Amino acid sequence: MIRSTILGLGSYVPERIVKNEEIPFLDDQHVRQAVQQTETSDEWIRARSGIEERRYVPNDGKWGSSDLGTIAAERAIADAGITAKDIDCIIFATLSPDIHFPGTAVFLQSKLGIDGETGCACYDIRQQCSGFLYGLQMADAFVRTGMYKRVLIVGAEVHSHSLDYSTRGRDVMVLFGDGAGAVVVGPVETDDPRAGVLYTSVQADGSGAMDLYLKVFEIAKAPFVQYDWKNRDENSIMYPQMNGKRVFLHAVRNMVVATKKALKETGLTWADIDWFVPHQANLRINEAVVQYAEIPPEKALNTIMFYGNTTAATVPLTIDHWRQAGKVKKGDLVLSAVFGAGYTWGAGIFRV
Ligand code: COA
Repeated sequence: MIRSTILGLGSYVPERIVKNEEIPFLDDQHVRQAVQQTETSDEWIRARSGIEERRYVPNDGKWGSSDLGTIAAERAIADAGITAKDIDCIIFATLSPDIHFPGTAVFLQSKLGIDGETGCACYDIRQQCSGFLYGLQMADAFVRTGMYKRVLIVGAEVHSHSLDYSTRGRDVMVLFGDGAGAVVVGPVETDDPRAGVLYTSVQADGSGAMDLYLKVFEIAKAPFVQYDWKNRDENSIMYPQMNGKRVFLHAVRNMVVATKKALKETGLTWADIDWFVPHQANLRINEAVVQYAEIPPEKALNTIMFYGNTTAATVPLTIDHWRQAGKVKKGDLVLSAVFGAGYTWGAGIFRV
């Protein structure tokens, strides 16, 4: 029987480390100023989110999500022991696409040198913090049906350019960072029901769509971009808007339910699973999920302290971080649960 399996994994974060202490002093170009720009503090950010630092791309106009994604993808491709030309499908998950259209997957494809007339299929998916598991479910289905043989899933985000660096935007601004993660998924011939990707289940509830959103434009209106450059302070359309409390509650509830459902439907217990890898939005969300889903705390892997919320990148980035630290080993079984804007959420169980 053909099953899908993760053949390679890679990640990339920019070099610039922005510690909580620096955040109040950043201007709208994320350049540090002598005078405080935003009323926030290391103490508040640490206590409410668990974040200690995050990474930002250089503000030199050269870094889009496809650039971060390309480096992560190259690492995943090398880890899989294949070349970029072997990839026959790319699934790119991001909420910070390089431009409005075309999608970011084709830019990544070109940067990997696999464009042209023999180029592979390219999909962009828009499920925000749940993008990686939505992508994994697609890749699993593609590989098991024989549609594609080497599917590259990339989650990459440049958040630092679209945050509101002022007291008005502080609730969102302090949470997000830039980064990328990637995996290569391919087929394996096996009768072992516990090989490769064992389970994926994803859901959405559009009634929560306006609890976390970034408009930039509204195509129903003309002009569809309503940006007054003279009055930047009024332009909330340019920045993410969030009902933090509602998002928090829905994240905990849906990640707990998705985790319990994953175990019930596979018949697995925590004794079978090596690591719990939740989406990294807030350490308090993850601690609550660990408590309510009765997950052994020592099996939970977090990286939000180091990278903040990197949205579609968090799951592969977290696994790769702890693999490089020597904790996660080849073949370990991971249960991942995610929640994001939309609302979207889900869980997956897979070997890394
Ligand atoms: N620094 C200092 N104070 C801040 C702040 C910041 N960065 N952001 C908000 N505050 C203030 C608020 O204005 C409020 O002040 P007030 O009491 O005078 O009105 C106070 O802190 C408490 O705000 P509140 O929103 O109640 O805090 P919270 O405990 O709910 O934590 C979040 C805020 C954003 C950390 C939390 O709601 C959260 O993490 N939500 C989920 C976010 C998320 O996961 N997003 C991604 C989804 S995938």
